[in-house]
Amino acid sequence: MKVISDIAQLQHHLASFDKEQIALVPTMGCLHEGHISLIQKAKRLADIVVVSIYVNPLQFGANEDLDNYPKPLEQDLSACEAEGVDFVFTPEQLYPEGSIQVGLHVNDLSQNLCGVSRPSHFDGVVTVVNILFNIVRPHLAIFGEKDFQQLTIIQRMVSDLYMGIEVIGAETVRETDGLAKSSRNRYLNDDENI
Ligand code: PAF
Repeated sequence: MKVISDIAQLQHHLASFDKEQIALVPTMGCLHEGHISLIQKAKRLADIVVVSIYVNPLQFGANEDLDNYPKPLEQDLSACEAEGVDFVFTPEQLYPEGSIQVGLHVNDLSQNLCGVSRPSHFDGVVTVVNILFNIVRPHLAIFGEKDFQQLTIIQRMVSDLYMGIEVIGAETVRETDGLAKSSRNRYLNDDENI
């Protein structure tokens, strides 16, 4: 497994694959069984699996948990290694310092559900996923059905913008009590976790 933070270096490695199917599993790290199931699906469907780990500032609102988002990189790398991931892409930054000048915008699909309380969240998600797609140029990409609004918006982005990437949803993995596995479950207290 190669761990690469440099964009040109990753692209150099990926350019050597001609006939192989490349799958991208975009993540923000802090990997749990849900992410592992995405990676396993990617392994079943493609020859080369790239997992990206990038906590994307663009998709966090002003009072959200960007500064405290957990980053257990060594643990994440061990999990990827155990699953036979080929490349872990760990960019430090995916767009120029300061404000990004050109990004993507989601219309009506971001105006309900999670988008109501997180007004710029999905613009940040599609902008960074588009950058990741442009860097990795995968044949397919796997996203969890847990974030169903995100999955729907990304499928729509790929179709509206003719990106030619197959976006595949993977089933939600749950705790024994039924709660969907999530990196943010650690924020729930006993009363909330029912
Ligand atoms: O679902 C996530 O972890 C993030 O929204 C994603 C798709 C990696 C984009 O930053």
